Amino acid sequence: MERRNFLKVSATSALAVAVAPSLITQELRAEDGALFKTYEKVQLKDTEGNPLKASTLVKEEAYVFNYPHAATPALLVDLATATKKDVKLTADDGTEYIYKGGHGANSTIVAYSAICPHSLTHPQKSMSMFNYVDEKGKTMSYSKGGVMVCTSHLSAFEPKEGGKVVGGPATQAVPAIILEIDKDDNIWAVAVLGPDKFQDFFAAFKQDHKAEYGRKGAKKLVKESAKVQKLKDFTAQMIIA
Ligand code: FES
Repeated sequence: MERRNFLKVSATSALAVAVAPSLITQELRAEDGALFKTYEKVQLKDTEGNPLKASTLVKEEAYVFNYPHAATPALLVDLATATKKDVKLTADDGTEYIYKGGHGANSTIVAYSAICPHSLTHPQKSMSMFNYVDEKGKTMSYSKGGVMVCTSHLSAFEPKEGGKVVGGPATQAVPAIILEIDKDDNIWAVAVLGPDKFQDFFAAFKQDHKAEYGRKGAKKLVKESAKVQKLKDFTAQMIIA
């Protein structure tokens, strides 16, 4: 298949979804821990170190932060359209889980792990082949915009439906980062919902992680706060196909 890559240093966004733990039922398998795992409760902060306010997120802008480990990237997006609620998803091992929906007043704020479940492509400083295409954007990975895409092999993930696969060779959803937004509009990351690829990721990029984070730094859990920045500022080029 002929494939054209569009290098796009644009302000379009990425995604992420969250579900308050208080809303999670046993259907999410929180009890057995198979697909719902709480981590450190971490406050999202801007590049100046100030609390990131949910109301200040630029619509459909993709933001990146690392959670739950020091080296595991996630995307945060305030989508143009509200997410669906109670989306049933199935992991490759047959485990079913339910994505309750996005956060914020309009259920549009989402966060997802930005490690592609197909072959672990993820945002890097040199370039990002894992991105969010806004609703008016076009992608070869799916028939319409408003999706997360991995341009390595053209997988697409629907952020309005728990990160489910809607195109390409990936076989299971990207896991949602579970958020909480408090009464002061602060955003917290608290858990991960879905089948994660963290251990595969650490094994595959061991040398890179060692160089950037030290011998064991990549796996350390993020504590207290996580720096959030626009993906277009984090990476030298966003590759949208
Ligand atoms: S690594 Fe993402 S589609 Fe292959």
